Amino acid sequence: KPVAPCDFVVFGGTGDLAVRKLLPALYLRDRDGQLPATSRIIATSRAGLDIAGYRDKVRGELGRFVPDASLDDAIVARFLARLEYASIDFADADDWSELTDLLPADPGKIRVFYLACAPALFGPICTHLATHGLVDDQSRVVLEKPIGRDLASARAINDAVGAVFDESQIFRIDHYLGKESVQNLLVTRFANTFLEPLWNSSWVDHVQITVSESLGVGTRGGYYDNSGALRDMVQNHLLQVLCLVAMEPPTYVGRETVRDEKLKVLQALKPMTPDDVAHSTVAGQYTAGLAEGGAVLGYKDDAENVASRTETFVAIKADVRNWRWAGVPFYIRTGKRMERRSSEIVIQFKPVPHPMFPDSEGSNEPNKLVIQLQPNEGIRLHMTAKEPGPAGTRMRPVSLDLNYTEAFHRPSPDAYERLLMDVVQGNPTLFMRRDEVEAAWAWVEPILVGWQQSERGPRRYPAGTNGPTDATTLIERDGRTWHEGA
Ligand code: BG6
Repeated sequence: KPVAPCDFVVFGGTGDLAVRKLLPALYLRDRDGQLPATSRIIATSRAGLDIAGYRDKVRGELGRFVPDASLDDAIVARFLARLEYASIDFADADDWSELTDLLPADPGKIRVFYLACAPALFGPICTHLATHGLVDDQSRVVLEKPIGRDLASARAINDAVGAVFDESQIFRIDHYLGKESVQNLLVTRFANTFLEPLWNSSWVDHVQITVSESLGVGTRGGYYDNSGALRDMVQNHLLQVLCLVAMEPPTYVGRETVRDEKLKVLQALKPMTPDDVAHSTVAGQYTAGLAEGGAVLGYKDDAENVASRTETFVAIKADVRNWRWAGVPFYIRTGKRMERRSSEIVIQFKPVPHPMFPDSEGSNEPNKLVIQLQPNEGIRLHMTAKEPGPAGTRMRPVSLDLNYTEAFHRPSPDAYERLLMDVVQGNPTLFMRRDEVEAAWAWVEPILVGWQQSERGPRRYPAGTNGPTDATTLIERDGRTWHEGA
């Protein structure tokens, strides 16, 4: 169903995010008839292109980032005709005429300002938008993560943006919330009866959340070296997933109800003391190794910074201090240049209370529910079964498998497709509220500080492996192991 007519203004229109994610997502929504004829996409950057040059560039990039089967000449032509380009210097207050000329007052039309640029520019851009009279009640602003570098800078950005836009107009994007598999977490938990009674400290031994990537930092070294995995992945994506796993059922899934429940989880996370930072967190950095079928450089070479202490891997043991989760550790980890690309949640249940098969052979492993978010979306329940045989009882691990592609015969849309349409429709459910972002920074900050003050830099791990040995020790000293593979 088409969304309302809209002018979609992208700050950073020639940047990595715009060409790899935003424009392909808008193209695919256009292909499916969701963009009305009058909707336009206005890219701004300092690249000084003209519109013909920009359209040519986008035609080429669509060829790279949209699957061939989805490209259609007529639809590409229609999409390119929607594009406009304004060359402006975001930080310079006087030089906005190219944009203001493209945005004459049009009260019926929604305006989306998508800030796909450095967070330090969010405040100045919003101020300039207001000064040039470009903001009205129908305007929305989208902020890419990370919002700031710590709690103070996040608050300053939220204040500056909040001086121009009402909270209901601000969409803080975390693309993990747009992933089908992440949304399905709520449906799995709350549209089925059998899981919820077990989803607590009486039955769950611990939870693991892993987001591992096989890629290195690629060409993003400049951004990444100032950021690191804690700011790039944990403060947002991993904590958001943790919230959806741990939260209480809201009365219904609505604009504020899910965000209210997620906030309560963030507030229940046990604050990290310096001692916790030393014993319950691990920072790692990849060195040269073998990944993606060949020899790859170490992080310092990728980032062109021999002295870099930036972490490309993080493992943390976190505690959610509330009735449901008391005593159930949440082990979370993420890393670049790991053995494989895989994002998964593991709910490991407690062992059976009493061994009933004294003469059995084989092992009675505890049940595990593995929710694979990517690459192959699915849910696998690890169980124990009797191996068929005429004599005795031999126990064997078996699994119940749900594979989404097989179940639905349909690939999942990219997260941005869903989220961009939600922005136009003014639906904030899958976006982070100010209080959530700030609560997440408040929890992460002592870790940032502790690592900064520590004399030891991040632990080294060879590219293509599952992180430093300290991460293995972090979980094994509790008598548990990381779940690797299927
Ligand atoms: C982004 C991070 O937010 O998420 C990247 O900035 C990371 O460093 C990416 O690679 C991972 O997203 P996905 O969708 O590929 O899991």
